[in-house]
Amino acid sequence: MSKKEKTLLQVLDGKQPSYTPIWLMRQAGRYLPEYRALRAQAGSFMQLCFNPHLASEVTLQPIRRFGMDGAILFSDILVVPYGLGFDLEFVEGEGPKLQTLEKTLPHFSAEKFFDRTQTIYQTLRLTKPQLPPHVTLIGFAGSPWTVACYLLGGKGADEFVGARLRAYRDQGFFKQLLAVLVEATAFYLVEQIKAGAEVLQLFDSWSGLVPAALYQDWVLEPTAALVAKIKAIDPNIPIIGFPRMSGSKWPLYADVTKVDAISLDQTVDLALAQAQLPSNIFQGNLDPLLMQAEPEVLLAQARQLLASTKKPFIFNLGHGLTPQVPPEHVAALVHFVQGYRYA
Ligand code: CP3
Repeated sequence: MSKKEKTLLQVLDGKQPSYTPIWLMRQAGRYLPEYRALRAQAGSFMQLCFNPHLASEVTLQPIRRFGMDGAILFSDILVVPYGLGFDLEFVEGEGPKLQTLEKTLPHFSAEKFFDRTQTIYQTLRLTKPQLPPHVTLIGFAGSPWTVACYLLGGKGADEFVGARLRAYRDQGFFKQLLAVLVEATAFYLVEQIKAGAEVLQLFDSWSGLVPAALYQDWVLEPTAALVAKIKAIDPNIPIIGFPRMSGSKWPLYADVTKVDAISLDQTVDLALAQAQLPSNIFQGNLDPLLMQAEPEVLLAQARQLLASTKKPFIFNLGHGLTPQVPPEHVAALVHFVQGYRYA
C-alpha cells in the first residue's frame, strides 16, 4: 500500500496529512476485555509476548476496535535483557522480575540473541499484512539507560535508587554496560525493520532520573550511538525518541541523538516546543490521567492541544494508557482527533 495513505509516515516525512494521526502508548493492554481474555488463554504475560500469533492478535486488537494510525508491536522493553540471556518473568500484580546483573558484564552474541528473540520478529511479519492501509507498523525498544535501570535492579516506584547508586559507584562498568545495550538494541531494532517495522520508538521512560551533569554520558551518548548504528543500516527509517520527564533537556536530546521526532510527556508545552524548534517533529502529549475523566473533559483538553499547535504532530499521550481507562474514552478520543481539521 502506498506510503501516501499513511498519515503517521507523512508527518514523520515533514508533510501535512489530511488529519492529525493518533496512536497511544500502551494501546494494547489490560483496559481491553479482549486483551484480558487472550492473556488468560496464554497463561502469562511472557507467554503472550513470545507467542507470535497471540502477540500479533493483541497488536491488532486496538486497531480493529479504534482504527488508530499506528500499530505498536506487542512486546516489552525487557525483551532485550532476555535476549542477552537474563531470566525474565512477570509476577501477577507486581510487574516484571528481571534477573539482576551482578559483577559480570553481559556478552552480546548475535546468534544467541536472535535465537532468544526470533518470535518477536515473527509477530511483526504476521501483523504487517493484516494492517488496514492507513496504519503504520511501529517497532520499539527501551533506551539503554532505562533498560540498564531494570538490569541493575529496582523499580520505578523506588526511582531505581539502587541502580543509580551502582552507576555512580562504578561509572566505568556502567558505561560498558550501556555499550553492550547499544549493540544489542541496535541489532534488535534492525531485525524489527527487516521484519516490517516502518517506524521505531525508543522508550527512555526513566531518563528523567538522570542528573543534568550525567545526561550527556548516560542518556545522550548511548542514544546517539544507537541511532547512528541503525541509520548506518537503514538511513530512512524514522526514529521517535521519548526522553520522558527530561524537562528542558529535550532540545539537547533532539540535537545530539539525531532522532527524527521527539515524544514529549505532558509537562512540556507542545505548542511552545513547536515554536522553539520549528524544524522538529513532535509527538504527544495529553495527560494520560485525562483518559479516565468524563469524555467532555477529555475532549476539551484534546481540542485545546490541537488548537494551540501550529502544524501537524503525532497525537499521543504523555505516557501510556492505564488499566482503569474505559475503552469508550479511547474510541471518543481517536474519533475526535481523526476528525479534527486545522482552520
Ligand atoms: O504500547 C503498547 O501497547 C505495546 C506494548 C508495550 C508493553 N510494554 C506491554 C506491557 C510497550 C511498548 C511496553 C514498554 C515498556 N515496558 C516500558 C516503556 C514504556 C513505559 O510504560 O514507560 C516499560 C518501562 C516496560 C516495563 C514494564 N512492563 C513494566 C514496568 C510493567 C509492569 C507495569 C504494568 O503496567 O503492569 C510491564 C508490563 C506490561 N508491559 C504490560 C503490558 C501490556 C502489563 C502486563 C500484563 O498484562 O499484566
